[in-house]
Amino acid sequence: MLILGIETSCDETGLALYDSDEGLLAHRLHSQISLHKEHGGIVPELASRDHVRRITPLFNEVLLASNRVRADIDAIAYTAGPGLIGALLVGASFARALAFSLEIPALAIHHMEAHLLAPMLEEKAPTFPFVALLVSGGHTQLVRVDGIGQYELMGESVDDAAGEAFDKTAKMLGLDYPGGPALAKSAVDGDSQRFRFPRPMTNRPGCDFSFSGLKTHALTTFRATEGNEQDKRDVARAFEDAVVDTLFIKCRRALEATGLTQLVVAGGVSANTSLRQRMADYSQQSSIQVYFPRNEFCTDNGAMIAYAGYRRFELNPETSNGIDVRPRWPLSELNVA
Ligand code: KG4
Ligand code: ZN
Repeated sequence: MLILGIETSCDETGLALYDSDEGLLAHRLHSQISLHKEHGGIVPELASRDHVRRITPLFNEVLLASNRVRADIDAIAYTAGPGLIGALLVGASFARALAFSLEIPALAIHHMEAHLLAPMLEEKAPTFPFVALLVSGGHTQLVRVDGIGQYELMGESVDDAAGEAFDKTAKMLGLDYPGGPALAKSAVDGDSQRFRFPRPMTNRPGCDFSFSGLKTHALTTFRATEGNEQDKRDVARAFEDAVVDTLFIKCRRALEATGLTQLVVAGGVSANTSLRQRMADYSQQSSIQVYFPRNEFCTDNGAMIAYAGYRRFELNPETSNGIDVRPRWPLSELNVA
């Protein structure tokens, strides 16, 4: 079966075609970085309008690249939430209209479920059950995953998401938008011995996170320096080390609590080289297997939506005819009996 995946929840328009026999056929992405850069953050209305402009050309491109025509598509999967409502509506309306014209089903997909399934597109893929660390711009969650729609939230951020903390700290250091990758780049040449930031909530039981204090810690530390380029790098390094270490400690705790031996790390922050290295080292020294999406599928993309659509369709081919979008949508509501 051939599934079209459409992602428009935030600032990336992503389309992909996934074939249940042949795997991923093609994917295309348009990032809105240059559009939002001058505003220092995402402007929702600009995001929606850009999705409108990009979606049809990208759809035609994935068809062409896959050597398929519209009539070959069996179902359409679109991101229904969580995300920016206007942006979500573009993808949902496009998907529903196309599905209606082709007389095929359209599936409303949960963005974070798609992130957590993304490593299954790789050659080295996890099998259920596993623990998933979801680290994106809007979420930081540890989830026990026993199957599609079998999610148990083990912990989450009580304030900022990890990606959000990266973005805000980067902005404060005067680094470019988007902050996460810019801060990571700056941290590479930072001195890891100069500052040591706290590892929030690691001395308390449980798997919850808190990152907003680290951001403030970075600000006060930076203000106490001369504010030169090396100071920036050193603060960036201390911040990144603290986030990575905290994420690692909580993952290890979740693995120990469940007795599971597979860890999935997904969402935009899973593209972070230092985090990937830390988890890979842990895997080498223990019996834990760690799975990541390839770099381009860590951040938002259409391929993960197409794949999640396929897995959802296998489970339940019934779909609604509505244009279903949910700006807020807890993962727990996806659980099947
Ligand atoms: O999953 P994603 O593309 O969008 C959401 O669903 O939120 O994640 C975007 C987040 C942003 O906060 C971005 O700064 C962060 O992921 N990010 C990174 C890196 N690449 C993206 N954070 C740290 N290091 C990176 N290399
Ligand atoms: Zn995302």
